[in-house]
Amino acid sequence: MDKVIIFDTTLRDGEQAPGAALSSEQKLEIAYQLENLGVDVIEAGFPIASPDDFKAVDLVSRSIKNGSVCGLARCLKQDIQAARDSLKKAKHPRMHIFLATSKIHLKYKFKKPQDQILDLARQATRMARNWCADIEFSPEDATRTDRDFLFRVVETAIACGARTINIPDTVGYSYPQEIHSLIEDIINNVPNINKAVLSIHCHDDLGMAVANSLSAVLAGCRQVHCTINGIGERAGNASLEELVMALKTRRDAFKKITTGINTKEIFRTSRLVSTLTGFLVAPNKAIVGKNAFAHESGIHQDAVIKKRSTYEIMNPKTVGVDKSQIVLGKHSGSHALSKRLEKLGFKFSREKIGVIFKQFKRLADKKKEVFDDDLIALAEEETKPKHKNYELASIKVTTGTNITPEAIVKIRHRNKICESSSSGDGPVDACYRAVDKITKIKVRLINYKIEAITIGKDAQGLVRVEVSARGRQLSGRGSSTDILEASVKAYLDALNKI
Ligand code: KIV
Ligand code: ZN
Repeated sequence: MDKVIIFDTTLRDGEQAPGAALSSEQKLEIAYQLENLGVDVIEAGFPIASPDDFKAVDLVSRSIKNGSVCGLARCLKQDIQAARDSLKKAKHPRMHIFLATSKIHLKYKFKKPQDQILDLARQATRMARNWCADIEFSPEDATRTDRDFLFRVVETAIACGARTINIPDTVGYSYPQEIHSLIEDIINNVPNINKAVLSIHCHDDLGMAVANSLSAVLAGCRQVHCTINGIGERAGNASLEELVMALKTRRDAFKKITTGINTKEIFRTSRLVSTLTGFLVAPNKAIVGKNAFAHESGIHQDAVIKKRSTYEIMNPKTVGVDKSQIVLGKHSGSHALSKRLEKLGFKFSREKIGVIFKQFKRLADKKKEVFDDDLIALAEEETKPKHKNYELASIKVTTGTNITPEAIVKIRHRNKICESSSSGDGPVDACYRAVDKITKIKVRLINYKIEAITIGKDAQGLVRVEVSARGRQLSGRGSSTDILEASVKAYLDALNKI
């Protein structure tokens, strides 16, 4: 059984994502969670970049006990010194030095020939190695580097003491087959390659960071760089959760290679990083998105209720998500609805479920998602006594700033539609006055309360009223996505009790 080292760079490359700045204290909080998650290496920052980056690497170094803490440095003396100083207190320090090697970077960034770059790599690796036993070397933009030159740089870095050689696809340009052949070529052409661990670092500019990283693992890399939620420079880095779960779920395809990750901590870590960076996780994001284990279509729901694995390749519990979600929406079926109602404590006959299902579909057409409280409102509506003397047929209300609200109300009464209109102090008052004209009952409104049953601007409103009429005090309830409709329903519900 083979193990791949998980090198997490959320706090360094992840934080390079525009807008993701983290304070050193926030970085420490994430580092503790990465330790719980079981990552092997935490790249905590780029110490020369800013005083707070230095502080973050120092704080994380002092605090993390399991796994290595890493600081990034260019092949420059001041960078290497800053990395050394910030890593002083680490139990297992690692220094990660990088140097661009592609023609385009040499020409426009450095304006230096290949030989000088090779010298720089040699000197910097030696200097870093003098101060830290665990050196990782990255030839930046490796996937666009001339291969023979790349082999020479890698061989030099290893000869000067690098223990890990990391191959960055800095601009996310490569694709799985190309990465595979590049790693194979490095293994076959660098004479001292067996003295180092080969690592891969992929960016997601073409959406292939995870696929490329997995391809590198198949070709022989035994370390992967990744970030939580895939955050990182531009389109981001390979996402830790996707890599780890791909290796775990498809052990058959990935040579039974394991990681030391406690996958049950994945979801919690994802939430923490999202909260602290302010980067929301897309609902359809693999593994950690809100919909990753949610089923809305009736066919899927029915099958998942019968056997989870029909439409789920991972058990949500393995990534720390309590259970898969059956989301009730317009594509859901009556089986899922009746199951959910049962869970909520309502047991209905098949016929009743049929009736509620129709109302549910009407509601689902209006709302994106039907929540449990919406269902309770529907179920309670169904359990109310059925005899309705007055039933709302329709309302039309005109209201606005500086105009008197006007309501036209139509009510079904003894199989007849009765219509009336009225103005009022507000739209609800106008509706109630119009109702009073139809029922001819003298009613006094004692209490009116409205609340949102669920969340969101498409939530259902629940109106509760207390009225006094014909010497009795009566209460009524009505719900709808339209609060005026809910108000009239509640009023009629009270009047129907007379
Ligand atoms: O993308 C990149 O090349 C990097 C290096 C510093 C490894 O982040
Ligand atoms: Zn990077």
